Amino acid sequence: MSRRALLAGNWKMHLTIAQAVELAQAVAAVCADCRDRDVMLAPPFTALAGVAQALQGSNVFLGAQNVAWEAQGAFTGEIAPPMLIDIGVRMVIIGHSERRQIFLEDNVMINRRLRAALEFGLIPVLCIGETLEERESGATFAVLEKQLRGALHDVPPGQAEQIVLAYEPVWAIGTGKTASTEQAQEAHHFLRNLLADIYNKKLAETIRVLYGGSVKPDNIDALMAQADIDGALVGGAALQVESFKRIIRFQ
Ligand code: 13P
Repeated sequence: MSRRALLAGNWKMHLTIAQAVELAQAVAAVCADCRDRDVMLAPPFTALAGVAQALQGSNVFLGAQNVAWEAQGAFTGEIAPPMLIDIGVRMVIIGHSERRQIFLEDNVMINRRLRAALEFGLIPVLCIGETLEERESGATFAVLEKQLRGALHDVPPGQAEQIVLAYEPVWAIGTGKTASTEQAQEAHHFLRNLLADIYNKKLAETIRVLYGGSVKPDNIDALMAQADIDGALVGGAALQVESFKRIIRFQ
């Protein structure tokens, strides 16, 4: 089973429009010869339109960092799926640990966002991951299972096959502490078995599972060599073209 690699940059709350456009143009140039891998960029909402233009005609996917569960209405501060589609967005990050931890999004909310994204034809990049405390108390797999089952509640298999899953251990995000390749592979393998349990083995084999958390040029190759790691969701190292380029060109 060969799953197409996906290297995704989550720019979080960084970059002005001009900086974002410049970086997107540089990434598009790097990706001109990307034939066997996908690349996605998720700028902040303010830069989506500019980056959409910069990526036009390229093979880089435009992503957003969150999405509302209603098509329109009184939801101050939220962005609806049709608004993202209108601007050219194809993928959307949902359930990032910063949304869960800082903005108190729970599994019910994340499930609503995920189902709305799927209904409108956006590809969700669903993030899950345990905190350091949860890992140290031996709760990692229970936490991952709760997050995954919660997010996928009422998502039929025909829609689930669109999803990209991202395992991001919270303790590895922005800390410079990457999970060891063994820790990452162990979690990814667990998640794939869980997907097989929720749906079926065939579907589980097609869903891409990305690793995120201090992915850098010097650890990407070892991570990508793992059987169940199909790509990376990159924060800090995606903000510079040189480091992201090396990640895109993993060997
Ligand atoms: P860092 O790569 O900066 O650790 O961030 C990871 C992340 O949260 C990507 O979504």
